[in-house]
Amino acid sequence: MSTAAVARVAYLSSDVLVDSRPSLTAESSFATAYKTLSKQGTDPKPIYSLPFGADPGSTLSRHSSVGLLSYSTESQPQLLNRLVVHLNDLANSPLVLHVAVQDDLTDILVLRSSVPFVLYSHTAQQAHDNALVASRLARLERKPVLHAFVDVEESVDEVQEDQVLPFLLKESNAIVNGSVLPSDEYTPALYRSYVSAAITTAAFVRRPVRALTEQGARSPQIVIFTLGRVTADFNIDDVSFVDISLLNPLPASELLRYIPPSATRVIVVEQVRRWTTKWTPLYLEVVSAVQQSDREDTPVVHSAVLEDGTSIQPLDVAKLIERAKSEPPSTRLRLGGLSPVPTKAATEAPHVPKHEGSYLKILSQLFGDRLEISNSPDLVPSQGQLATTPEFALGRVRGDLEQRQELIDLVKDLLQSYISPELHQLLSEWLLAKDDAHKSAQLGKEVVEVLKLEDNENPTVARILALQAQFPSISRWIVGSDAWSYDLGASGLHHAIASRLNVNVLVLDTVPYSTRNVVDPSRRKQDVGLYAMNHGDVYVASIAVYSSYAQVLQALVEADKFDGPSVVVAYLPYKNEEVPALEVLKETKLAVDAGYWPLYRWDPSKETKGQEPFSLDSDAVKNDLQQFLDRQNHLSQLVRSKPVLASEIVGSLGENVKEARRKRAQQAYQELLTAIDAPPLLVLYASDSGKAEKVARRLATRGKMRGLSTSVATMDSISIEDLKKEEYVAFVTSVAGQGEFPQNGRTFLKTLNIAAARGEKLFDNLKFTVFGMGDSHYWPRAEDAHYYNKAGKDLDARLAQLGGERVADIGLGDDQDADGPETGYKAWEPLVWKVLGVDAIEVHEAEPEPITNEHIKAASGYLRGTIAEGLEDTTTGSLAASDTQLTKFHGIYQQDDRDIRDERQAQGVEPAYSFMIRVRMPAGVCTPEQWLVMDQIADEHGNGTLKITTRQTFQFHGVIKRHLKKAIQDINRTLLDTLAACGDVNRNVIATALPSRSKLHRQTWEFSKAISAHLIPRTTAYHEIWLDKKLVAGEAVKDVEPLYGEFYLPRKFKVAVAVPPLNDVDVFANDVGFIAITDEKGGLTGFNVSVGGGMGVTHGNKKTYPRAGTVIGFCTIEQGCEVTEKIMLVQRDNGNRADRKNARLKYTIDRMGLEVFKGEVEKLLGYKLQPARPYTFDRNIDDFGWITGDDESHHFSCFIENGRVQDEPNGDFKTGIREIAKIHKGTFRLTTNQHLIISDIAEEDIPQITELLKKYKLDHLDQSGLRLSSSACVAFPTCGLAMAESERYLPILVDKVEKICEENGLRNDSIVMRMTGCPNGCARPYLAEIAFVGKAPGSYMMLLGGGYYGQRLNKIYRDAVTEPEILAILKPMIKRYALERQDGEHFGDFVIRAGYIAPTESGITWWDRAGGEGEWRETSA
Ligand SMILES: Cc1cc2nc3c(=O)[nH]c(=O)nc-3n(C[C@H](O)[C@H](O)[C@H](O)COP(=O)(O)O)c2cc1C
Ligand code: SF4
Repeated sequence: MSTAAVARVAYLSSDVLVDSRPSLTAESSFATAYKTLSKQGTDPKPIYSLPFGADPGSTLSRHSSVGLLSYSTESQPQLLNRLVVHLNDLANSPLVLHVAVQDDLTDILVLRSSVPFVLYSHTAQQAHDNALVASRLARLERKPVLHAFVDVEESVDEVQEDQVLPFLLKESNAIVNGSVLPSDEYTPALYRSYVSAAITTAAFVRRPVRALTEQGARSPQIVIFTLGRVTADFNIDDVSFVDISLLNPLPASELLRYIPPSATRVIVVEQVRRWTTKWTPLYLEVVSAVQQSDREDTPVVHSAVLEDGTSIQPLDVAKLIERAKSEPPSTRLRLGGLSPVPTKAATEAPHVPKHEGSYLKILSQLFGDRLEISNSPDLVPSQGQLATTPEFALGRVRGDLEQRQELIDLVKDLLQSYISPELHQLLSEWLLAKDDAHKSAQLGKEVVEVLKLEDNENPTVARILALQAQFPSISRWIVGSDAWSYDLGASGLHHAIASRLNVNVLVLDTVPYSTRNVVDPSRRKQDVGLYAMNHGDVYVASIAVYSSYAQVLQALVEADKFDGPSVVVAYLPYKNEEVPALEVLKETKLAVDAGYWPLYRWDPSKETKGQEPFSLDSDAVKNDLQQFLDRQNHLSQLVRSKPVLASEIVGSLGENVKEARRKRAQQAYQELLTAIDAPPLLVLYASDSGKAEKVARRLATRGKMRGLSTSVATMDSISIEDLKKEEYVAFVTSVAGQGEFPQNGRTFLKTLNIAAARGEKLFDNLKFTVFGMGDSHYWPRAEDAHYYNKAGKDLDARLAQLGGERVADIGLGDDQDADGPETGYKAWEPLVWKVLGVDAIEVHEAEPEPITNEHIKAASGYLRGTIAEGLEDTTTGSLAASDTQLTKFHGIYQQDDRDIRDERQAQGVEPAYSFMIRVRMPAGVCTPEQWLVMDQIADEHGNGTLKITTRQTFQFHGVIKRHLKKAIQDINRTLLDTLAACGDVNRNVIATALPSRSKLHRQTWEFSKAISAHLIPRTTAYHEIWLDKKLVAGEAVKDVEPLYGEFYLPRKFKVAVAVPPLNDVDVFANDVGFIAITDEKGGLTGFNVSVGGGMGVTHGNKKTYPRAGTVIGFCTIEQGCEVTEKIMLVQRDNGNRADRKNARLKYTIDRMGLEVFKGEVEKLLGYKLQPARPYTFDRNIDDFGWITGDDESHHFSCFIENGRVQDEPNGDFKTGIREIAKIHKGTFRLTTNQHLIISDIAEEDIPQITELLKKYKLDHLDQSGLRLSSSACVAFPTCGLAMAESERYLPILVDKVEKICEENGLRNDSIVMRMTGCPNGCARPYLAEIAFVGKAPGSYMMLLGGGYYGQRLNKIYRDAVTEPEILAILKPMIKRYALERQDGEHFGDFVIRAGYIAPTESGITWWDRAGGEGEWRETSA
């Protein structure tokens, strides 16, 4: 038997054995074999037998350093999935994982990418021999080896016991029996190790041991690769079978050896039943190998699933080949008949997957003791597997409800008989309150107490006491999976729906949106929600916890209240338990946005009250749901009550946009056809942040000037069919992410790749050339060099492969060249003109200047542009591109949801545009009334959350265009506004929120308001556009901007006011900083003035850098406004308007020289600033909890992680603050670290506010020092500049780094750690002790050495790190810090003293010595 043979080899070759039990009760067959061997043997081995379901990771890690560690288990998906997490830590351990599999290799293939060696055996002899190979490989290479084998009853020729150890320790043989090790440099080292081990084993067992075994025709036309339990020991003409027993490493060259030139077709047959994504792993390997081959005619590759391979006949193979010939290559084929799926008779409680816990947690939070899950997995041990089926649960519910009805009848009877007045009273009250969740339980308890004292002889009393469990009104739930929705009748779900019982059914659908079309194509899933709605008397809701938490709560409460069956279908898309919550969230968003998973509630009881039973809680619906609604005529009611919403539901999303695009394309094509003389040139580009687009447009313009008919479009906007019709096409593409294509070219490239994989020749007329734009230092490590300009190079090769004619060699632009990409462009462009025969044409006209922000500002009529007209245009959710630059001055940013951008593009609809609105609120102070309005605006117009920003103000996300004006009006109504919250003007003025020095705070607040008011733009456009205030005298009144002029500033301008010793505002990160100076009595005398702080950088561009402000003198309070104004004016007139990347004040000062700049300011002021006065800062983080001010006022600082105010499973923070705002009489202060201070709390309100803080978990301040000192910018999904996650990811990273701190006793030590999604630096990362700045998804630049109180910039330590690298860097560093730090030494200072990183003395020298110092220097930096 295979298992016994494998267990014997494992036992004889290992030093320690670990084994997982296959069920709670049963012993594993490995363990049985081990026991027998240890009884017989002279050398007993330590054997660890792990209970069923236990995670083997920690046991394996503990023993990972022994000579050889073997782990054995039967294939259990959850166990194997969990192993993945640990394999990283075991990467250098001599470990063999022996996994006995049944007839599905899905779980093994999932593990494959995490283990360097994966062997597979499907006969018992092979299992024995491969077990030897695995043991030898693991011992010699000190790496994990996975050996999957099928457990079959076959006899095995076993090696002798005493020969095993000598074999394992034997030196490698290069040549055995004529086999020669592959030694060429192209064969990967891992594969050579495998071959060496296989050859040595073959010599030992005297049988062939091979990665691939071939059988059949010599020069076959059809090659069939088989992975799985298949025995095809027959010959078919022209067919060869290649059996695979090595899955990793499997070099392409090896696979190609078995595909001779005669082969025209390859079929890859894999035994994967539960594989959920479209392509299977081995199939992809073969396709990629075929693509890499230099053959002229590549064979067509098909994928097939192996069903039962044990009795394959020649006829089965013939059918397979027949289908391969008749079906398109994308069809998944099948070989063999279906084998019965093994059933487990185990009676352990089934495991509830981690993610599903989220809904169960909400149920138990909502219903507490009242909750009964009638098919709870906990019932399985006592009731058997059947306990989780709906029929079983329904039976229980029915029984319980009957008992309750009996109780009610008995109570009524008892009321008619002679009982004490007290009991009468209680029973009557219970009868009235029997459906009330809380009263029914309480009164029930009291009734039972009294009844126990009553006459026990009374049979009614006795029976009532027997039924006492039914007094409380129970919320009964049956919870199940989407497996029930395949066959509603057989699953029992139909019975629950049709039962009319008061029962609630929660059905979890876990199919990820992105794999919705590839799961189980043979089975059709039914829409449970629609099915239930058609019954008419069932409450139905469709919910998704990762889309709308509030809607989930509402639906569950309504379902509970509904008297009759309720069906709640809940979306929870995940592939396996290890999928992070962020993935679940993104999949949910895709599904909800596309209408695949609409959110709605259908309450038939409302109909009887004359109300609309259907509420749509998301924007889009699927066709079938819409048909249902149409049929029910409810949609027409909806149309009447909400005409705007309805037009969006009824009209298929984005139709107008598609139509507009189609027309534009047609027009371009027409123009192209009518052009004469010169050949037309189509320029196609893919660009993420616009540089490649600019180059493409310029090429087209310059082509026109040479008499060509040119047109420009993104790659994704053209279909392959249209491209085939083109003759001359120039492609321009940049690179985004690690060698990846920019967003607007990805679909295009994917289509080309698919065509190439199928061996198609698409183009017979296309003449192309490519210009690639990249950055040779974006990923500076030597091993990442191939990412340089990868997109362009890939495209160039692909187009040629598909039959295109390369008429000019690829041009490469490099950001690092002296002239940036221009250097490469200048060499490439003449080649294009030459090909088109227009190189001799001289062009005399000046090229039209590209339109810049400066032009837009000047032409805008004081920030009007065509914003008003754009708001009226309902055909698109966006505004004109130039207007989006102008709305920034009004505090509004156009964004789109990037989580669903690709999917919407694939559907041909425009991106999900929405707007971010930022409020102007100097010093971050607002009243409770204003808070309440903000809270309401977030719900009514935004995405239901409020963001407290690093500029101490509110930000609303997800406001769609038609809500924009209303939202701005509501903000203004509460005496706040959004003017100048963004744009090239003075931004929101920030000030220290320090509550302990309340008097000073009041003064600095007034000071901030004065500066903000002094520098506010004077244009009336804001009032005109948003508040419908017309110009007083029609066109006669002309706007003037006395300070800004019509061009406004070259860039944004930021002012901060700090009150030492707290530098929470990071005063040195601002263009102008005021540092409060006090006299001996603590009275404010004036401010030190700092200038030239700024954070933004561009990756790899050394002309950009962050800069900490420089103190230039002291001014009085009265001089403050004037000083700011004059600094701003010098910047207005001297800032670089030609290059926005070089336009901030920091560059102006460094260019002019500090003294010259100061002199200019003083010239305008007409006086000199006084010398700066002494001050001391000691921190830049917030103080949390209760604080009493110096005027005896009371304040409470709440910790709001990354400033996101929302209700979430950890606490209903948004509701909590709303409740506090309703009674609070003081103010709220937002902090620049994105937290919230409830300020000036009246003495008499302290108890109530304390209670509310507790109730809504706002007083949970027992966070680690690291978490309290961390902050992140917004980034994905709304920020258009984000390159990596930030707000959604930092908490996850903190969880992990926090553990390292805790292990080293630093739980309460504050380390300032910040993260941003791009180098723009909104969360001021360059002043943090540790910072991460996004480069690409999952990849961050890491910086170290910032000053603890924002006094010193940090420096780049690593150019690009991923999470495992971050943890590997920080673990020893934090440990050293804990052991070696000096008294009071902060982390940022320590890393400099310990020699990890050099200190940054000034902005200009920020790039110097980047990459670490000495032994810590990144070698390729
Ligand atoms: C997130 C990100 C990732 C990048 N990855 C690469 C890369 O892998 N290889 C490369 O050559 N350039 C890379 N670059 C550099 C850009 O391709 C280059 O700056 C280009 O000019 C940007 O053009 P675009 O504005 O049209 O997107 C990357 C840039 C960014 C912002
Ligand atoms: S730092 Fe970058 S990613 Fe983060 S919010 Fe600012 S612009 Fe967006």
